[in-house]
Amino acid sequence: MERTLSILKPDATRRNITGAINAKIEASGLRIIAQKRIRLSVEEAQQFYAVHKERAFYDDLCKFMTSGPVVVQVLEGNNAVEHYRTVMGATNPANADEGTIRREFAESLEANSAHGSDSSENAENEIKFFFSDIEIVA
Ligand code: CMP
Repeated sequence: MERTLSILKPDATRRNITGAINAKIEASGLRIIAQKRIRLSVEEAQQFYAVHKERAFYDDLCKFMTSGPVVVQVLEGNNAVEHYRTVMGATNPANADEGTIRREFAESLEANSAHGSDSSENAENEIKFFFSDIEIVA
C-alpha cells in the first residue's frame, strides 16, 4: 500500500467536474482517504511548487493555482504514485493517452486538471504540506 497527493486544479473546480474526476480515480482502484476544498494563497502555491521556481512557467503556474479553489486529496492503493500518474496521463494533455483524466478533461498544459506526486518521497512531503494525520482516514 502506498499513498500519493492529488490536487484537482482550479480548471476542474471552475467547470464543476471534480466528481467526474473522482469517479475515474475510484474506478481505477485508488481510494480517496482524505479530501478538502481549499483556496491556495500565493505564498502556499509558491512553496508547494518551489522545485519549479527557476522554470519559465513558475509565476504563471502559481497565478493559475491561486485563481480558484482546488481540491486536495490523499489517494491510497497499490503502487499509488505510479498508478495515479498513469490514471492522470501525460502532463501535456495533447500527449495523454485515451481514457486518462488529462486527455478527457484537461484544457491545456497549465490547466491540466490534476496534479499527482512524482515519487514516494515527494508524496510524503506533499501530503504533510496539506494534511494532518487526523484528517487521513484509511
Ligand atoms: P503539475 O503536475 O501540477 O506540476 C507542475 C505543473 O506545471 C504541471 O503539472 C503543469 O500543469 C505546469 N506546467 C506549465 N508549463 C509547463 C511546462 N512547460 N512543463 C511542465 N509543466 C508545466
